[in-house]
Amino acid sequence: MKVLVIGGGGREHALVWKIAQSPLVEAVYCAPGNPGIAGLAECVHIPADDIDALIDFATAEKIDLTVVGPEVPLTMGIVDRFQTAGLEIFGPNQAAACIEGSKSFSKDLMAQYDIPTAAYQTFTERDAAVAYVKAQGAPIVVKADGLAAGKGVIVAMTEEQAIAGIDDIMLDKVFGAAGASVVIEEFMDGEEASFFVFTDGKNILPLASSQDHKRAFDNDEGPNTGGMGAYSPAPVVTAALHDVIVETIVKPTITGMANDGCPYSGILYVGLMIKDGKPRVVEYNARFGDPEAQPLLMRMKSDIVPVLQACARGKLQQDSIEWHDKAAVCVAMASGGYPASYDKGFEITGLEEVLAMEDVVVFHAGTSLKDGKIVNSGGRVLGVTGLGSTVAEAIDCAYAAVAKINWNGVHFRKDIGRKALNR
Ligand code: AMP
Ligand code: GLY
Repeated sequence: MKVLVIGGGGREHALVWKIAQSPLVEAVYCAPGNPGIAGLAECVHIPADDIDALIDFATAEKIDLTVVGPEVPLTMGIVDRFQTAGLEIFGPNQAAACIEGSKSFSKDLMAQYDIPTAAYQTFTERDAAVAYVKAQGAPIVVKADGLAAGKGVIVAMTEEQAIAGIDDIMLDKVFGAAGASVVIEEFMDGEEASFFVFTDGKNILPLASSQDHKRAFDNDEGPNTGGMGAYSPAPVVTAALHDVIVETIVKPTITGMANDGCPYSGILYVGLMIKDGKPRVVEYNARFGDPEAQPLLMRMKSDIVPVLQACARGKLQQDSIEWHDKAAVCVAMASGGYPASYDKGFEITGLEEVLAMEDVVVFHAGTSLKDGKIVNSGGRVLGVTGLGSTVAEAIDCAYAAVAKINWNGVHFRKDIGRKALNR
């Protein structure tokens, strides 16, 4: 069969890498892809949000299955449009993608079905939002309601920071229409983890545990980013906690969405805050995590393609996934200055040398080709992912590869995975 992956980051590189290993697959395409993906799939020069052009391509090439990486095409309704065109596609439809696309939608869902999360209120008026912050006090969290490329959340340690955040979102409209309303919620303390399930809208198939590192600098300092590294398994999610997450969060979410007339199919990403062994939802995403996809897919032993197909068809019967015993650690190598502005176009050296290393895959996120050389072209540039028999060995493996790679201004965290060792 022919598979099309939509997107061009590290997550999509990992999806292509895994899908290309399936004996069911004869060709993989990726739109738009990147220079790393180009070694495994045919990259097609169509942006991930050009739905008309993607439908034309999938129809002309007789693509059997399309897999959507990023959230933007999902919230634009790519799944609805492909289905109308008679094309099979993996991911939630537009109504279900609101679970990520609208914070107020997801908070209302959690309230309705008693899913543990932070207390909250939604505001469309700036003054009412400010009054609420003053009544609640800090720390407190201010969120633009709509999609803001992962930047619409202000974790405010003071009332002043919270009010400045409300003004940025509601008066200065720094996130545009995404800030027409704000969700203000209780600050949750604890350790974060990422929990993923495949679902066809009724049945669920949980993945192994994983943990992201959202802050830019070591020891979880600095601004929030898309994720500076991830590892799997994450010991904070014990077997007992896994069951609690499935029973009190995942199942009520999936049945709640179905009851409300918008069944969710695809992969559901539940961002969790864990405190004293109790999980609460920070947010949902309608897609795979990036960089979590990279260590998770390197550990996945089962063929992913039948799972993706079964979800797309509403016929998920498989009840478990086989995982390699090894742990995986992904270190994001970023452009200097990320998540703020950064310079692009610097040649990346050392990639050839790392190709020869066993148990390491370098997933490309923000790279491009310039005069035949691979250069940095995005904030997160590479996801250097290593395997090891323990998390400690996987850390050593990933950082041994990181040490061989360089470009002008490169930045990466030195402590990815360390939280797992502290347990
Ligand atoms: P989100 O875009 O909702 O994932 O938020 C980005 C990050 O902000 C999360 O990964 C958390 O680190 C942090 N965050 C969001 N909501 C809260 C909350 N209620 N309490 C504490 N931290 C939060
Ligand atoms: N790793 C965070 C995200 O994918 O949103």
